[in-house]
Amino acid sequence: MKKYLITGGAGFIGSCLVRRLSKKKNQICVLDNLSYSSNITNISKELKRKNCQLKKIDLSNYKRVYRCIEKFKPDIIFNLAAESHVDRSIDNNFPFIKSNIIGTHAILEACRLYLSKKKQKKNNFLKFIHISTDEVYGDLKNSKKLFKETSKFEPSSPYSASKASSDHLVNSWFKTYGIPAIITNCSNNFGSYQHPEKLIPHMIISAIKGKKLPIYGSGLQIRDWIYVEDHISALLKISEKGKIGETYNIGSNNQIRNINIVKKICFYLDKHYKKKDNESFLNLISFVKDRPAHDTRYAIDNTKIKKQVGWKPSKNFDKLLYKTIKWYLQNTQWWEKILSKSYQIKRIGLKND
Ligand SMILES: NC(=O)c1ccc[n+]([C@@H]2O[C@H](COP(=O)([O-])OP(=O)(O)OC[C@H]3O[C@@H](n4cnc5c(N)ncnc54)[C@H](O)[C@@H]3O)[C@@H](O)[C@H]2O)c1
Repeated sequence: MKKYLITGGAGFIGSCLVRRLSKKKNQICVLDNLSYSSNITNISKELKRKNCQLKKIDLSNYKRVYRCIEKFKPDIIFNLAAESHVDRSIDNNFPFIKSNIIGTHAILEACRLYLSKKKQKKNNFLKFIHISTDEVYGDLKNSKKLFKETSKFEPSSPYSASKASSDHLVNSWFKTYGIPAIITNCSNNFGSYQHPEKLIPHMIISAIKGKKLPIYGSGLQIRDWIYVEDHISALLKISEKGKIGETYNIGSNNQIRNINIVKKICFYLDKHYKKKDNESFLNLISFVKDRPAHDTRYAIDNTKIKKQVGWKPSKNFDKLLYKTIKWYLQNTQWWEKILSKSYQIKRIGLKND
């Protein structure tokens, strides 16, 4: 039995980790500020069990984060709490600086105080696993290169710059203070329970509502897609076999252009979800002004994690994408609620008038 503190555990990836870990005899503490992208229904079954608790705490609140660590005494911390949407970071970057940089600093300092008080630095009892993104490496443009763990950080968006900053903090807290940390840089995730603002759910939901499918620029941007359950398997393997002080890139070798992802969604819906006017969903595709500083290509070299940790991703991308589309078709209530005006107003604490 292990004790896991999962920050951001009410979000997309964090909740998947909570669901996986709670199936076994583990103690789980979710630390989350329950911001707009969280959804406690993602972990409602788990929260009913005795082995899983939720603490509504903002990661940047050093004192509360410290008290939570001190009380729960985790064996492993998975740090997933972050603002994660690039478009939002362009519109308003303040929450990104607060959650991703100040928040990471606060939890590192909380760990430092906790470890120094317990004088257990060398006992290998705590691992701090910081979950980051391949976006910190910037744009591979039209080259054939892949991101390696040694690639230079060249973030393009306020989101990726804030995540790059958090990675630098974690790395230097390991070097300077001996915080037992590991950093992971993962590519674009997809799967069930992902917030409707992200590309794949956004396209599925817009299509079945008969709305336009807006594609940024040419749609030729390449992302290296990974199924969220594969990401979780990688994180768990790293928590067992990963080496303190190391960075691991996580990716599945699924480099696909955005336009092709959207076409795949349309092909699936044409076959399994008939449109009222019988026209193809492809007709809903529309090209819109590109996002500023939009990176052209991301691609991960996953040799290190495969060799050193023994992790392997699933192979059948199309099958996993179809499974995801099916989930959104079968769980309309889940996303309808998130999209409803009353829910959004409640989340930002305004009165519904
Ligand atoms: N989604 C991806 O494709 C992807 C890829 C690589 C890495 N990542 C990283 O994985 C992590 C999780 O991503 P996600 O897609 O699940 O995001 P998400 O937005 O679905 O979930 C983030 C969670 O963190 C919480 N949170 C945000 N700021 C917080 C704060 N200040 N204090 C406490 N909780 C806070 C939110 O309430 C939410 O529950 C992030 O660190 C992200 O950078 C995501």
